[in-house]
Amino acid sequence: MKKTAAALLLCLGLTACSPIEEGAVPAGGDIETSSSSVSENTTEPETTEGTTETTTENIIAETTAESETTAEEVTTETESVISETASETVIDTENRPESITLSTYEIQLTVGEKKMPIVTMLPADCPDKSEIWESDDTAVARVDGYGNITGISEGSCTVTVTAAANKSVSASVKVTVTAPPQTHGEPTYIDGILIANKTYALPEDYNPGVQPEAEAAFKEMQSAAWNEGLNIWIASGFRSYEYQSGLYQRYVNRSGKEEADRYSARPGHSEHQTGLAFDLNSIDDSFADTAEGKWVAEHCHEYGFIIRYPKGKEDITGYIYEPWHIRYLGKETAEKVFNSGLTLEEYLGITSVYAE
Ligand code: DAL
Ligand code: ZN
Repeated sequence: MKKTAAALLLCLGLTACSPIEEGAVPAGGDIETSSSSVSENTTEPETTEGTTETTTENIIAETTAESETTAEEVTTETESVISETASETVIDTENRPESITLSTYEIQLTVGEKKMPIVTMLPADCPDKSEIWESDDTAVARVDGYGNITGISEGSCTVTVTAAANKSVSASVKVTVTAPPQTHGEPTYIDGILIANKTYALPEDYNPGVQPEAEAAFKEMQSAAWNEGLNIWIASGFRSYEYQSGLYQRYVNRSGKEEADRYSARPGHSEHQTGLAFDLNSIDDSFADTAEGKWVAEHCHEYGFIIRYPKGKEDITGYIYEPWHIRYLGKETAEKVFNSGLTLEEYLGITSVYAE
């Protein structure tokens, strides 16, 4: 099926695709309000390198040349010391870290879960106990500068902490990441961003309604567009688990599961259930070519939104191009994602694939 046809089917399933008044902001599904759950990225601390000065001794050349002539012996001796430099080496070997032990050497995480082993660096009185943390597979688990390890996708990897002041001292923890909870438990946040895609499901009872912060940002964007003679409106906003369940089933009945999975999220996997995603105006590829569609693509990041499913990224986001679907991330994060030119999945280094 062509994208446009799929999009039209998507539209057919949405009650909010029925006539919309100019300037009105209808939102699909049940709308309730609750406090926003969007938070910004945290910054990692900087690590401090140890005090090591290097010494360079360069005696580049010392040559002696002797020349002889037939008439008389003339000896010419040339000594060239082209360069000689020396500086003192100061390495504080006395108070460097000598060992690192961890509170645990094996950590089990579910996707999106975070844990931090406690580090003991000896001797206790060494002045620089700065730590350098690294994961050998950031697609499986990531670690920040404090040692917070986050499960990203199923698999195993090793996270290592090294003493910045003595890089021969380190310790490692084996990290095993298992599948995220599917329709129960907690929603998944990665780097403070609530994730709903094919890999990461929302709990069935996660029912926050449209998020006031996202709605306020949309209204600000709508006013700015209006001032430029453009009319944008929400054709579908918050959708509950139950609503998405019925919608997805209708698409499966019409297109078959394989095709429906390309343009409609299974229940628990739709961003609309976060209350942070909106479908704008006409749910059709042609929206991209309208003045409104072009303006939204160019400016929505200034209001905290991204075009969530860009063209040509179906293999990464899991969905066909949806120029009408915007996701609220907050201004700072949306600017960063927009400027990176990456999808949210690429930006966070995560997947969007159903387990089965
Ligand atoms: N159309 C998007 C992928 C959804 O159903 O949430
Ligand atoms: Zn949408």
